[in-house]
Amino acid sequence: MAKTNKAAAAGKPALKPVAGGAKKAMKLSDPNSGKSWDLPVMSGSLGPDVIDVRKLYADAGVFTYDPGFTSTASCQSKITFIDGDEGILLHRGYDIAELAEKSDFMEVAYLLLNGDLPDETQKNKFEYDISRHTMLHEQISQFYRGFRRDAHPMAVMCGVVGALSAFYHDSLDINDPHQRMVASYRLIAKMPTIAAMAYKYSLGQPFIYPRNDLKYAENFLHMMFAVPAEPYKISPTLARAMDRILILHADHEQNASTSTVRLAGSSGANPFACIAAGIASLWGPAHGGANEAVLNMLMQIGDKKNITEFIKKSKDPNDNFRLMGFGHRVYKNYDPRAKVMQKTCNEVLAEMGVKNDPLLQLAVELERIALQDDYFIEKKLYPNVDFYSGIIFRAMGIPVSMFTVLFAVARTVGWISQWTEMVDDPSQKIGRPRQLYTGADKRPYVPVKKRK
Ligand code: SDX
Repeated sequence: MAKTNKAAAAGKPALKPVAGGAKKAMKLSDPNSGKSWDLPVMSGSLGPDVIDVRKLYADAGVFTYDPGFTSTASCQSKITFIDGDEGILLHRGYDIAELAEKSDFMEVAYLLLNGDLPDETQKNKFEYDISRHTMLHEQISQFYRGFRRDAHPMAVMCGVVGALSAFYHDSLDINDPHQRMVASYRLIAKMPTIAAMAYKYSLGQPFIYPRNDLKYAENFLHMMFAVPAEPYKISPTLARAMDRILILHADHEQNASTSTVRLAGSSGANPFACIAAGIASLWGPAHGGANEAVLNMLMQIGDKKNITEFIKKSKDPNDNFRLMGFGHRVYKNYDPRAKVMQKTCNEVLAEMGVKNDPLLQLAVELERIALQDDYFIEKKLYPNVDFYSGIIFRAMGIPVSMFTVLFAVARTVGWISQWTEMVDDPSQKIGRPRQLYTGADKRPYVPVKKRK
């Protein structure tokens, strides 16, 4: 795959290469002082080069400025690669569409955590070990009773996951690889249990315990929808769809919630607290909360005849309405996950006997019109992973408020893989950004009687 270097591709020098200097350096020059500095340039295995600015402040007395990190690499990572221009997503080198088609979530979780696909023995042991960590300490179920029944389940997830560190004291030492592994397995295993309990609590139904004879996605559906009064029949199609959706949401490079987990972890915080921080960040409608926002938007649009009006609103700079499920910081092409999601959507609706789902028809028409609109074409706004996922979840009988919870269940393996990579990185330091200060200059304190 060609290296994606936008500046080079655009023919613009990102910075003036150092003539005859180190092969991998760029020169920064200050016309005012006449001084210049050679900034080392680092290359990865795929994607754009980076300019190493770690010594910039010490050498040149200036900071870089990049509030949304649009051009800033925060770390080195081997886990996920995204080529936003080409719409490519690789996990440890494997293409997302191939993994979604041929793999399963437990295998992808092993891949993200360990770097390679497992052999049969490794896979069976991993699945066995995860399944034996799915139960929660029985006292944790008391936490739920402290919430209102109508609490948003993401609020419950933040609270309960953060509280796990109060129970699992034997997996808090981040410097002990065994304890890191145990905490990682506990989090991957327990998230579906915690999520399903949040749903059951909202219904006033009894919690359903996990079962060791069920696969990960089956177990999750069983804990969500079974009731003690009768056996629950798991649909293989829905279980396969859920498993595929978990794969599609598993990891995505240095997105907002993953960066939150890394930043929290950089202070040495325990993994349960770091994942709780990731859940909080994912909740936002600009991020993982978008799947819930897409459904609410489609219900607000209501009918195809209203699409033009809402697309107009989404383009109005004075209207904060945005087409939810559209656009992405990195993808300037179709999100490869959205393509697989749309295919899965059709499979689930067919399984559920839903013909001509009005919301799906509305979504497809909205996508068709938006992708023909000059504004969306010029700004390279395409459907992202959240555009179709909510329609699938709704067809599966999952309430809108649980959509982002499902995203958090899946992304936990990505968060914990990235956290582990960070803790293992010998060059790791506490994350502590600087700022461009625009506030008041130093001034004397004035007693209140003398203030005007
Ligand atoms: C996820 O980072 C990840 O990898 C995230 C994620 C993951 O797996 O972790 O992929 C999951 O979060 C997907 C994104 C879900 N969010 C949404 O669907 C919400 C709607 N999308 C937008 O809020 C927005 O597109 C973002 C937040 C996703 C990206 O925002 P950026 O990169 O900061 O881009 P921007 O806001 O600067 O937008 C660029 C331009 C702006 O117009 P101008 O100021 O240049 O005139 O595009 C416009 C925006 O107004 N724009 C939109 C739009 N998204 C961007 N206009 C209308 N509708 C939209 N959806």
